[in-house]
Order: sequence, then structure tokens, then C-alpha cells
Amino acid sequence: MTEVLPKVELHLHLEGAAPAAFIRQLAHEKRMDISGIFDAHGNYAYRDFWHFLEVYEVATATLTRPEDYARLTRAVLEASAASGVVYSETFLSPDFCGGRDLGAWREYLAAIAESAAAAERDLGITLCGIVTPIRHFGPEKARETALCAAETAGDFIVGFGLAGDEKKWQPIDFKWSFDLAREAGLHLTCHAGEWGGPESVRAAWRDLGVARIGHGVRAVEDAPLVDELAEAGVVLECCPGSNIALGLYPNWPAHPIARLREKGVRVTISTDDPPFFHTTMAREYARLAEAFGWDEAIFRSIARTSAEASFCAPSTREKIMKKLEKADV
Ligand code: ADE
Ligand code: ZN
Repeated sequence: MTEVLPKVELHLHLEGAAPAAFIRQLAHEKRMDISGIFDAHGNYAYRDFWHFLEVYEVATATLTRPEDYARLTRAVLEASAASGVVYSETFLSPDFCGGRDLGAWREYLAAIAESAAAAERDLGITLCGIVTPIRHFGPEKARETALCAAETAGDFIVGFGLAGDEKKWQPIDFKWSFDLAREAGLHLTCHAGEWGGPESVRAAWRDLGVARIGHGVRAVEDAPLVDELAEAGVVLECCPGSNIALGLYPNWPAHPIARLREKGVRVTISTDDPPFFHTTMAREYARLAEAFGWDEAIFRSIARTSAEASFCAPSTREKIMKKLEKADV
């Protein structure tokens, strides 16, 4: 059931979805020594969330050309399609793709979008992009990123978000960038309520006016906030396997996704950075089924919520909805 159910993924970092072997191969081709980021089995190795961010950036340093991102896009979409994903939104950062230079960003984007179009023809999976500044790089760099996003908003770039270290800066510090993105027609999301508490969720929602929250699960610590999120229909991009791998929750039954859902919050399921967390969309479904007894009807309803909350054009959303009605992928 969990493999073949058609799925929608809203929260996936493209570099974070790079298999360790893929990054090792790129490093080998470029004669870069990044052996320190892998364990004895060849998997990514990190001590905690902050070390994870460092390892992520070392791995990402191997992606130096648009064609590297084209290869990566293909590899990631093949893995997603194998898990039953029919539509995916991925975070893309001009910080990593051309150093926030608009001309270079356009070249990276063209390579990614072309690779995604080929994967759509071959595998039947659709990809859209969400431009994402990195919070710990600061608000000034985020402005340059927002300018790149605004210039390239369209059918492929459909959203704007904020990733990175939630403990650095406040959402309001990024307001200029989010306002610019909104004016350019981009839909908005922001990582919050992962390493920051409910006040971080509240600030992102209130100060940036986002429709979705990346993670957002720590809202559960504030009952009135949970009710407000449910009432307003704010969508949480939950990534339970990521939260458990990074030690935010000790195990699957302890994860708040089921409690939030029972309170009427619109929860969705994603993998965040799947190879880092030894997960896939199919595995997330299987673990949630085990932990909470969720059945096919619940997963189908969550997939519909994800499609409704997707940032793509209405015509694309209609196509996804049709795919979700099918018995299997
Ligand atoms: N970048 C990649 N994964 C992330 C996460 N889980 N939180 C914040 N930034 C990230
Ligand atoms: Zn994330």
C-alpha cells in the first residue's frame, strides 16, 4: 500500500536529496576530498542539526555547474517516482546555484527545469521549484536571492521560502524579501517550529504572511496556536523521519503529526533531505502506518491536502488531482 499510493511531496531540498554515492562520485570527478562527511558505510555522518547543516554545505560544494544540478535533478526524481511521488516541490537556493548572480542563476535554473521536463516525459513526475534563501547567511544575502526569485517567477519557480538555522535572525528580518517575492506572484512558505518553538511558528506566520510552514510541528506545544492554525487552514509541511533522525523526537509514536491532524491542522508528509535521514516517501508512509495505524483513506486525504496546498498553476494541480484518484501509480 505505502509504495504504490500516489503521493505529493511539498518539502524537499534538492541538494539534501542527493544520494551520498552521487556526491562522492562528483567529488571524485572533481578531485575534491570530502571524505570527512561520510561514515564507514559511505553514508552522510553528522552529530546534530547544526553539524548536519555544515555537512550539507560541504556536500553541496561538489555541485559546481548547471549540468551537475541537471544530473542531480534526474537522480532525485527517479528516486521520488520509485516511491510513488507524482508531484514534488523542491527548494532551490541561488546561494548554491551561481552565488546569487542572476545570470548564473538563470543558467542553473534552465538546466534543472530542462532535466525536470525530461523526467516528466519519462517518469510521469512533475517538479516545481521554491526559491529559498539560507537563514544563517543573513537578510542581506536573502534580498539578493529574492531578486533572483522575482526575476524568474513563472511556471517552474512557483514559491519562495526560507531554510537554514532557525536560531539565527527573526522572520521579520526577511520581510523585505518575502514582500518582494509575494509581489512577484510567488507563494510563500518558511521553515519554523523545527528548532524554534511555537513562537517561531507564530512569527513566521504573522510577520511573513506564509500559507505554509516548513515543519511547524512544535506548534503542538501551544494549544491556542494549534487552534488558530487549524482555523486559518495553514498547511504544515511535516517531515517526521527528518525530525526523528535529527533527534527532535525520540521515535515515531512521539511525533506530533497525528495529534496535530486530530486537532484539525492541515498536515502533509515530506522527506526533507531523504538520504541524510535514511528515508523515502514510501518509508515515511510505512512508518506512519505502523506508528498511528493510518490507513489508505487517511493517506489519500493527506495527499489531496498536499495537492490543494501545492504552489503550482491550477491546471497542473488539476492534473495531479486526477493522478491521486488512481488506485496506484
Ligand atoms: N536545510 C536542509 N534541511 C533543513 C532543515 N531540516 N531545516 C532547516 N534547513 C534545512
Ligand atoms: Zn527543510
